[in-house]
Amino acid sequence: MTVGRSTARAGGTRGAAAGMLLLAMAPGLAGAADPPPAIAELLDRPYLDDYQSSVVLGWRIVVETERYAARYAGNRMRCVHCHLDGGTRPGALPLDVAGLYPKWRAKNGQLNDLGRRIRECFVYSLDGVMPPAEAPEVTATAAYIHHLSRGRVIGDEVPGRGVPTLAATGYDPNPADGREVYRRQCAPCHGESGGGTPETVPPVWGSGSFNQGSGMYQLPLLAGFIHANMPPGEGARLTPQQAWDVAAFLRQQLRPADPRESRLGKMVEKLIRLAAPGS
Ligand code: HEC
Ligand code: HEC
Repeated sequence: MTVGRSTARAGGTRGAAAGMLLLAMAPGLAGAADPPPAIAELLDRPYLDDYQSSVVLGWRIVVETERYAARYAGNRMRCVHCHLDGGTRPGALPLDVAGLYPKWRAKNGQLNDLGRRIRECFVYSLDGVMPPAEAPEVTATAAYIHHLSRGRVIGDEVPGRGVPTLAATGYDPNPADGREVYRRQCAPCHGESGGGTPETVPPVWGSGSFNQGSGMYQLPLLAGFIHANMPPGEGARLTPQQAWDVAAFLRQQLRPADPRESRLGKMVEKLIRLAAPGS
């Protein structure tokens, strides 16, 4: 299978005008849709074997989820909105973690393989539907994550995994102060009503955002992510207290419910389990 550069770049050129505007505001932003070097090298090859084309498809799913994994994504968020730089940036939920799976996970009380972990991000972060274990989207994303994880020692902690832990400040997070931080530092991109900017900036609350079951909804994780990574390209411009405050503010806003707690969500999960036994 030949993978041409033009198709690979198609997504990157959409909304180019808005992108240029953002570019001027935040130089760090430009790289978001650029392939990591290992992928760029694959895209240059005239011929890819099955594994390599799977890796490339997995990368596409990560950077353009709503297009390449549309049937399982419930909102317009992309993996790369949280796993920055295609999952290659330390401190921004890097994805070079294949060697840590399978792994015990308290959230569902099971030994989770990498596929299961990917499928859960569809349910919570993408507020979508859990793909069956054998879905080609899951296989491709797993191949991409394996590719990013080359050279890592199985079972060894991955440097920069997750987000940096944000130390407590001694003061409770204050959502009212967070609202002010949001208005000044975040609203220019994420919008006064949290809906983001079409094509370039993801929503941070509302129906298009991650649901309350997502890891991102946990206060320490959200505060740590924001402090380390937002606004983009300017790392740690907020004080730790501002990051706690704005995270507390974001958590107060409306967003889709945790599907484990909503009846409809439970019904959907049950149907999926019935349709794909053993998953
Ligand atoms: C709204 C933000 C968000 C989006 C979008 C998102 N994720 Fe995640 N993802 C997270 C968070 C937060 C964690 C860590 C959660 C935790 O530790 O509980 C995580 C963890 C993971 C992990 C495990 C990482 C590790 O260190 O073990 C994988 C794999 C993963 N996500 C894959 C994906 C894929 C594939 C997509 C797109 C289909 C995706 N995620 C979309 C927020 C997101
Ligand atoms: C220059 C525009 C810009 C500013 C300012 C900005 N962000 Fe973001 N934000 C982005 C973009 C773009 C992404 C997607 C990841 C990427 O491409 O870097 C993102 C991702 C996020 C995410 C994870 C994905 C999601 O939508 O949930 C959160 C949370 C977030 N930003 C919060 C904030 C907060 C809080 C502030 C203010 C302190 C802020 N951002 C300021 C552009 C911005």
